[in-house]
Amino acid sequence: LAVQDLAGQVVLVTAGPTREPYDPARFLSNRSSGKMGYALARTAFRRGAEVILVSGPTHLSPPAGVRLVQVSTARQMHEAVLTHYQEASVIVKAAAVSDFRSADEYREKIKKDQGAPVLRLEPNPDILLELGTLRDPRQQLLVGFAAESSNFEQEGRRKLAKKNLDLIAVNDIGSAHCGFETDANRLILIDNDGVTELPHTSKMRSADLLWDHIVGNGLLRERP
Ligand code: PMT
Repeated sequence: LAVQDLAGQVVLVTAGPTREPYDPARFLSNRSSGKMGYALARTAFRRGAEVILVSGPTHLSPPAGVRLVQVSTARQMHEAVLTHYQEASVIVKAAAVSDFRSADEYREKIKKDQGAPVLRLEPNPDILLELGTLRDPRQQLLVGFAAESSNFEQEGRRKLAKKNLDLIAVNDIGSAHCGFETDANRLILIDNDGVTELPHTSKMRSADLLWDHIVGNGLLRERP
């Protein structure tokens, strides 16, 4: 049995991509597989937390013991997160939310002989930015993720401040076997106390090392 150092915590994890449909057959999305978020949910449950996993579409089996809330679009993820965040004492946003959606949703499948369509995009809500203002920092730890290929520390610090986070985990998506789709990752953790570079390792171990960092640095909130 893993050490139960997250016992009493309620952890809300978001995982996977979102899908933004523009006709009945097609959508805009990204390369997220959900593996990083599912690893965070699985390890948090093993360490004693109650876990709510808000997941975009993935091919993964739901981790045992977690409450799975399945969504597809960014707007659905936004709604699910707002429904559940107040229950949580730790919120970890590993999902790759589509920043834009199609402004028009065609009821009929777009046909080739109609000519190449022009897709107009409009912004989706930034869920993490909103949580940064809504959450209670005394009761809730807020952890963001960022996918970057350069300027890790600078970009991490910018998002940490802009989104009012306690901690951000920057993925190095420029190196081989890191970030999207792979089973491994290399995370750089940034908070107001400094920068911690984690080793290149499996997503399960990366998740455990992130929990070790949170517990070891006393970042967990006291539960009433
Ligand atoms: O799913 P895998 O294949 O295992 O890949 C894992 C991962 C690379 C997707 C994951 O580890 C990761 O980095 N997720 C966040 C990727 C991302 O969207 O980064 P970003 O820099 O665009 O967003 C920063 C943060 O804001 C993220 O926590 C994101 O969830 C959040 N966000 C972004 C846009 C938006 N509209 N709403 C948000 O909440």
